[in-house]
Amino acid sequence: MSERVFNFNPGPAALPLEVLQEIQRDLINYKGEGLSVMEMSHRSKAFEAIIKGAENLMKEIMGIPAGYKVLYLQGGATLQFAAVPLNLIGPGQHADYINTGSWAKKAIGEAKKLGKEVNVIATSEDVNYSRIPKDFKVTPDAAYLHITSNNTIAGTQFSKFPDTGKVTLVCDMSSDFNCRKIDVSKFGLIYAGAQKNMGPAGVTIVIIREDLMQKSPDNIPTMTSYKILGEKDSLYNTPPCFSIYVVKLVLEWIKKQGGLSKIEEINEKKAALLYNAIDATDFYKGTVEKDSRSIMNVTYRLPSEDLEKEFIAQGLKNGLLGLKGHRSVGGIRASIYNAVSLKAVESLVSFMKDFEKKNG
Ligand SMILES: Cc1ncc(COP(=O)(O)O)c(C=O)c1O
Repeated sequence: MSERVFNFNPGPAALPLEVLQEIQRDLINYKGEGLSVMEMSHRSKAFEAIIKGAENLMKEIMGIPAGYKVLYLQGGATLQFAAVPLNLIGPGQHADYINTGSWAKKAIGEAKKLGKEVNVIATSEDVNYSRIPKDFKVTPDAAYLHITSNNTIAGTQFSKFPDTGKVTLVCDMSSDFNCRKIDVSKFGLIYAGAQKNMGPAGVTIVIIREDLMQKSPDNIPTMTSYKILGEKDSLYNTPPCFSIYVVKLVLEWIKKQGGLSKIEEINEKKAALLYNAIDATDFYKGTVEKDSRSIMNVTYRLPSEDLEKEFIAQGLKNGLLGLKGHRSVGGIRASIYNAVSLKAVESLVSFMKDFEKKNG
């Protein structure tokens, strides 16, 4: 393929072209340092400026209040499934979880594997995760409530975050991190693998309130201890330097777009365009209840699996990549993260209309 495709992959996913071009410009000789970011010491002045810059920009763009730390870690969101209970569920304590799909289930499974007491206060498993549960009560003495803000596979998203009162809110935000403006002060801890909205795979972003950071017990593995990793400013060992550098460039790109309010406005527009196209006909059927629809992962079905296969194949021929639904659920999924342009979504919608005309 000689041209770049419109990339609807669920993750690793599209990066802004401007960011890729800047990486290309600086790849061999980073800002006159005479070497690439991949080759420099993580203790060098140049890298220190990158990681500090990435922490400060994250705070600025998200409006993170004082008293929070931004960490750049390894192990993916999956390691956080274990790190969160290891750090935050003390002896005799339990944590509440909401089960909105397979990622939440994995987080629950990992906590249980560690012998922690988990209380699943709500689930939408009985309806194939086609909605976000609404009625639930947080246990007042829970160590925290864990939610997954966006179910990447089913295509559901919390439009509003639950009010947990005094209970700490912990959120896996992997697939909708920085897709909208949020009030960080409502959360004790947010974590997200970078490879959807924020950069390449290899770095996991953790935003943690400093009082929680101090809770880490001494007998857990060093690489899961928020206290140690936080006190060392994510530099206890060699961090994923290049991925952190790209995250910083993506943050600069978000700022240049007009910040998160502007990003949110564009994301809403893209999602509305696609959902309207789905709702306009019986040929396409959304798989999720309307008030739980994700603005990041749009899932839908065609009248038959054969037509879905054809849709994916024809899409690819038209430069539309990554439309296959997750292998566990099938169907179509268009992931329309921040770096997926309005033009990409317009192309998809126009392809959908054309495909229906020929096959409907
Ligand atoms: C919501 C959510 N949580 C967690 C994960 C796992 O992330 P990682 O591969 O970074 O461990 C994913 C991956 O797609 C995800 O979508």
